[in-house]
Amino acid sequence: MYSQPREAITGFVFDESVVKVFEDMIGRSVPGYSTLLSMFPVLSRYFVTPDSRCYDLGCSLGASTLAVLQGIDKPGVEIVAVDNSPAMIEKFESVISGHKGQVKVDVQLEDVTKIIIENASLVVMNFTLQFIAESVRQSLVDNIYKGMNEGAAFILSEKIKLNEKNDNERLVSLHHAFKKANGYSDLEISQKRTSLENVLIAETVDQHVERLKNAGFSEVIVWFQCFNFVSIVAIK
Ligand SMILES: C[S@@+](CC[C@H](N)C(=O)[O-])C[C@H]1O[C@@H](n2cnc3c(N)ncnc32)[C@H](O)[C@@H]1O
Repeated sequence: MYSQPREAITGFVFDESVVKVFEDMIGRSVPGYSTLLSMFPVLSRYFVTPDSRCYDLGCSLGASTLAVLQGIDKPGVEIVAVDNSPAMIEKFESVISGHKGQVKVDVQLEDVTKIIIENASLVVMNFTLQFIAESVRQSLVDNIYKGMNEGAAFILSEKIKLNEKNDNERLVSLHHAFKKANGYSDLEISQKRTSLENVLIAETVDQHVERLKNAGFSEVIVWFQCFNFVSIVAIK
């Protein structure tokens, strides 16, 4: 998408052109993405309880939903997968329509800040909070917490920034090295970076932990990190 020089670089949107390349793009841009997803069946088998719901907030093409699905071995479970990009939801619906199994998957075109969360034993938000306005992040996390059962888990994966300037620059530089190793040119890296400016607002781990604790989560653990990308598990 960014291989040719562009006169003007507009803000990144999850539209049809992104959907076409999304699976390839996320795997080549997010260090550790496939390893992270490969742990979701372990996490879902561990946390999901009978007759409860799982939520995949910002589901895109459903990679997290499908990984969570693999680990569910309890009866009466439903997965609710939500995204506000019509192009993403249309493609994911066509993939999941062939799914036949015990677990019902309900795909919803909706804003995650507007949904009601109920009876959740697992909530996954994989690289999506970073795209939500900072002013509503606390109320969104509060809402997630309220809809979760005791002992349920919220898996939050995010690109982060580091408190120390030099440490931050080092991990940003390593992230670029990762993208170059995956075949992206300097031009592609810099044009995508410009496009994501003011769209993807990364925070520090401390900011995430504080917000999760404010919401009421008693246990907040960084369980995965690869360069400047982390995943946190917060348990109610
Ligand atoms: C980086 S992608 C998520 C990747 C996906 N969770 C995965 O594991 O492959 C971010 C997604 O969040 C969605 N998104 C952003 N803001 C949203 C909102 N307010 N409500 C619902 N979805 C949103 C975008 O449309 C996009 O599909």
